[in-house]
Amino acid sequence: MSDAQWTPDARELADLELVLLGAWPADRRLDVAVPDEVHGPVELLDPEGLPLATYDRESRTVRALARPTYGAFRRLHLAPADVRAEHPHAIAVLVEQPLTVDDVEAVVDAEERTGRRAVLIVRTGPDPRRTLTAPALVRAALAALPDRPVVAVALARRPEPTDDADLTAAVLRAYADEVLAVRGTGRLTDRVAAIVSADQPPLDERGLVVFFTGLSGSGKSTIARALYDLVLEDGRRTVTSLDGDVVRHHLSKGLGFSKQDRETNIARIGWVAAEIARHRGVAICSPIAPFDATRKQVRAMVEEAGGSFALVHVATPLEECERRDRKGLYAKARAGAIPEFTGISSPYEVPDDALVSVDTTGRTVPDVLDEVVGALVAAGLWDGRA
Ligand code: ADX
Repeated sequence: MSDAQWTPDARELADLELVLLGAWPADRRLDVAVPDEVHGPVELLDPEGLPLATYDRESRTVRALARPTYGAFRRLHLAPADVRAEHPHAIAVLVEQPLTVDDVEAVVDAEERTGRRAVLIVRTGPDPRRTLTAPALVRAALAALPDRPVVAVALARRPEPTDDADLTAAVLRAYADEVLAVRGTGRLTDRVAAIVSADQPPLDERGLVVFFTGLSGSGKSTIARALYDLVLEDGRRTVTSLDGDVVRHHLSKGLGFSKQDRETNIARIGWVAAEIARHRGVAICSPIAPFDATRKQVRAMVEEAGGSFALVHVATPLEECERRDRKGLYAKARAGAIPEFTGISSPYEVPDDALVSVDTTGRTVPDVLDEVVGALVAAGLWDGRA
């Protein structure tokens, strides 16, 4: 056993999978961003902590320990050797988007012309250009050409187009000697279109995280509660409230207000919110969340889960929050009785990515709520017609 362990990110795990299946080009090194503190051979773990390989950072070489066992359609994640044994004279068709009617025709033409059979190679690795989830892309491939073999390949999109084209070509060649490119243009069959639309509902039916951030006493909880009630009254969506003070009684009980504890607190809220978004629910969060980077991590988690993230900055000025001092905390903080108090002795980083910024000074709750809902409607995140 090596002394160090590391869980690679999604792109790195996808690359590693190709290495372990024998689909990765022999002349290409594997890059895994193991932290500098880690020396010597590192055990690379799957998301559940199972060791997959040992990795030597200096030589960027891998020694296999196990094949990946996680992920949807695992049974279709076949090694090139197995695909070639089963389908020795196949044409590899790369599927990056749902196959259109024209694509299907092109595949059938190529099969007739060459006397070979198509194998659909579905690109399931992380790919920002894919317009649907990876499992839905596999379902769409199975539905478009039902009796062709479908192979899921964890090929991650490279940022640099020529690099991406080179790697893609090499991986396809591992699976078959002949390759057919499809264009992805034209209409979809009804079955494929139904799979796409079930996977990609309209924006206002996807998971939504409304994340209120602002100083203590700014009015976050009050506006958040009003929004929560509005969603309940509306009745079309399920909704969960993750209020700062409430979360600290349950999910984050025991955490303090150091930078690290606040980051942990927000990361927990973000994790739960992202899961709610994955199920297409609405999550309304209202912690102070004073750090920009932590808020942006939550945004990334939510978007990765297929949800929308609406940041609402409750920008009531410090003087007004302090004047209200509903909990008497500002007075205590000024007296030095509460260390690291946001706005007094701990920073609040004003967001640069808020959907809307509202100052509650001298305004009624319905008035501020209207402004927030208006911003959500304008962004297409909420259907304001009902
Ligand atoms: S966060 O920084 O981690 O987002 P959170 O919203 O959960 O903060 O909790 C803030 C609430 O905790 C405030 O509304 C206030 O009632 C209370 N609180 C106690 N100590 C502090 C502190 N040092 N700074 C800010 N809020 C505090």
